[in-house]
Amino acid sequence: MIAKGGYIKDILVSSPGRTVDAHGWVKTRRDSKGVHFIQLNDGSCFADLQVVIEAGSIPEDTLKVVTTGACVRITGVLTESPAAGQAVELKAIAIHVFGVADSASYPLQKKGHTMEFLRDIAHLRTRSNTFGAVFRVRNALAFAIHTFFQDRGFQYVHTPIITASDCEGAGAMFGVTTLDMQNVPRIAEGPNAGKVDYTQDFFGKPAFLTVSGQLNAEIFALAFSNVYTFGPTFRAENSNTPRHLAEFWMIEPEMAFCDLAGDMELAEAFLKSVIGQVMDACPGDLEFFNKRIDNTILETLENVVNNDFEHVPYTEAVRILENSGQSWEFPVFWGADLQSEHERYLTEQTFKKPVIVTDYPREIKAFYMRANDDGKTVRAMDVLAPRIGEIIGGSQREERYDVLLDKIRESELSEEAYWWYLELRKFGSAPHAGFGLGFERLMLYLTGMKNIRDVIPFPRTPGTAEF
Ligand code: 4AD
Ligand code: MG
Repeated sequence: MIAKGGYIKDILVSSPGRTVDAHGWVKTRRDSKGVHFIQLNDGSCFADLQVVIEAGSIPEDTLKVVTTGACVRITGVLTESPAAGQAVELKAIAIHVFGVADSASYPLQKKGHTMEFLRDIAHLRTRSNTFGAVFRVRNALAFAIHTFFQDRGFQYVHTPIITASDCEGAGAMFGVTTLDMQNVPRIAEGPNAGKVDYTQDFFGKPAFLTVSGQLNAEIFALAFSNVYTFGPTFRAENSNTPRHLAEFWMIEPEMAFCDLAGDMELAEAFLKSVIGQVMDACPGDLEFFNKRIDNTILETLENVVNNDFEHVPYTEAVRILENSGQSWEFPVFWGADLQSEHERYLTEQTFKKPVIVTDYPREIKAFYMRANDDGKTVRAMDVLAPRIGEIIGGSQREERYDVLLDKIRESELSEEAYWWYLELRKFGSAPHAGFGLGFERLMLYLTGMKNIRDVIPFPRTPGTAEF
């Protein structure tokens, strides 16, 4: 049910003369002689509704508790506003207070709190200007993503959160168990004597929170042609950086009858489309980011939407970095993974726009990527963005049974665990490709926010799972 009177975003574009009920939280209150001004916000848009309370129009004991943070319903008449930047304001007739907020202890009193402080009050930071804007953009971005894929006939597939396979083969997974940690059952005898007896666990074998829905999405691509997942993923890597979360959301399209070129085409069209859609949906919020967080945001986003991405093979990227004359914290040489500093150099110094790096060495990429004929590289592509570094990781998948089996063995993964993944290559295999986009990385890009903990409602990072 929408509250009678409508959202504040609708009230703000209503004609003067109407009587309305406005619901929301008091952002600020200013008292001057004979009149009180209230900024009321209900989260529906960046702008507040200005409420004017003439002295004597509201009982004193009610007015006393209409302070910052209080939740109220204000009945009033819309009048033309003399103030700049707003068409109407509300002249109060009656006020109902749903919930008071004691001004001595309400933590969001003052403006200019640090992001760190606001993170510690994640149950209230949602009412601040910054986080109102962040989470409206997040909502618009999620909608834009579904729109992009649905318009192109991609089917949305729900891949499991609990899994027994490690998609990225990196081993940084959270275990899921119902075993009693104080009294773990152990194997009594044989070669594995003393090891944990997972046959007694809930799933009868070790289980984890998924790091990626890709392998399951591939099953669906090899039946529905074009599919995508959009769900939470988990990584137990101990990375305390402004770009890593232990729980983040990933979008993973997977396309049958598609090679690396098609994959890159989709990634570029996708980024341009969703950025454009968010620019249309949230102009007020993006203007705020441009004004208060990073004054290059709007220009950067326009640029991304209107210009082609750069394509550069890994070998060429390494040559550029080696010849850059820069001193690196992590050394650059053929075979080394690109670090954030290298990714940022390529996007910010060399090309000044998003760059797609392709054909990485096979040793540093996951087992499922299609081997190139040179025997050294795989059909991988990472989309790198200025400021953020890697935003998308994708590849053409190895569709040849024998080659995949070799790669699973070479990566010392268990053949038995991947039996169904291998069987897909035995029965009706097809060339296919896909990618994974970190939802919060794209949020960083869109908003200019500096820390990934500030673009997800309730961040999970090493040592933190509050709220
Ligand atoms: O490059 P990654 O590891 O790729 C995969 O998981 C593939 N299975 C995707 C696929 O081909 N379907 O992760 C994909 C993206 C990264 O490019 C990055 O944007 C994001 O996920 N990401 C993280 N975001 C926040 N916190 C972390 N710890 C992240 N790790 C990866
Ligand atoms: Mg990656």
